[in-house]
Amino acid sequence: MRTARRIDELPPYLFVEISKKIAEKRAKGEDVINLAIGDPDIPTPPHVIERLCQAAQDPANHRYPESEGLPEFRHAIAQWYEKRFGVSLDPDREVLPLIGAKEGVGHIALCFIDPGDIALVPDPAYPVYSIGTMFAGGSAHYMPLLEENDFLPDLESVPSEIAQRAKILWINYPNNPTAAVAGLDFFERVVAFAEKHDIAVCHDGPYTEVAFDGYRPLSFLETPRAKDVGVEFHSLSKSFNMTGWRVGMVVGNASIVEALTRVKSNLDSGIPQAIQYAAIEALTGPQACIDEHNAIYQRRRDLLLKALDQIGLKARPPRASLYIWAKIPKDYTSLGFATTLLEEAGVVVTPGIGYGKCGEGYIRLSLTVPDHRLEEAVARLRAWHERRIS
Ligand SMILES: Cc1ncc(COP(=O)(O)O)c(C=O)c1O
Repeated sequence: MRTARRIDELPPYLFVEISKKIAEKRAKGEDVINLAIGDPDIPTPPHVIERLCQAAQDPANHRYPESEGLPEFRHAIAQWYEKRFGVSLDPDREVLPLIGAKEGVGHIALCFIDPGDIALVPDPAYPVYSIGTMFAGGSAHYMPLLEENDFLPDLESVPSEIAQRAKILWINYPNNPTAAVAGLDFFERVVAFAEKHDIAVCHDGPYTEVAFDGYRPLSFLETPRAKDVGVEFHSLSKSFNMTGWRVGMVVGNASIVEALTRVKSNLDSGIPQAIQYAAIEALTGPQACIDEHNAIYQRRRDLLLKALDQIGLKARPPRASLYIWAKIPKDYTSLGFATTLLEEAGVVVTPGIGYGKCGEGYIRLSLTVPDHRLEEAVARLRAWHERRIS
């Protein structure tokens, strides 16, 4: 059997590798605390599950869904965007439900990238931006996200011949993995850059609802003319603890939404309808759970930041996202450091290199483990540090 080159070119998916290592340790009876994956430990709110169960009982929801989603769901998304961000969307032309944001993020390259085309991709970044580009036959031009630039890409430093050839510009704020946030001034520069070079902007924004200290992240679509140049991916995964249900959306530019609808209608048959009804309930029902979850994450953030400081790791206190992006000691690679923490402390973190070259020198820690496990992880890290310096 001869598989396609794209299969050979695929790097191992980082989290699959990490999960394998954890499974090996657990099979040997070792207790491992996983701070690597951003998968909320808090359950989906009960009213959302109730709606899901009710919808699952209805035979009308046992049949194929439409790939463009239920009209009621598209309306609920538009309504939520209006309420949360003051952004108006036409639910029939500017909204498309997705089987989780990852599905749309991966597929959108098929709308823009022909073999040889370029996508501008941040480094470090969620790996799917460059993998989707590669699947479509294109290549990524990486834009470093550096601490001295507050982890924003320096658009001015993209060579003009690359900018001319680029078809997509990927951005993601609140950012995974750096936890950086972006203001309107940055988004305005992005719109101007996209207009100048005729590039489609794909803003990946699944973390806008996970924020601390009263900070409210922006939607890219709040930027004047953003809808002329781009779209925003969003998700119910992190906002409503619904990673397991696989439901998200892309909103914004009608031509881009239409192109992705065409791709998807040839590849999938949409989101199970019971899940769409649950998502409607999440978006239109009580929103108090968001602040409640954020209070939990904020407490965990503070606990972890204090421990990191005590063991000599520097990290900026995140204002949003589920992550802490911490600098590691100079004498380690990020993979070496992550391996050491796993072997010597039984704590799993993600090595920064897994998100790109510019992620080297950092590790990412996730806030999605229950408090008692996080407290245990912190105790282990402190004990490991004591052993190391003694
Ligand atoms: C930046 C970013 N985009 C997209 C996703 C995928 O979200 P979803 O669960 O909606 O597929 C993730 C998940 O971790 C993410 O970190």
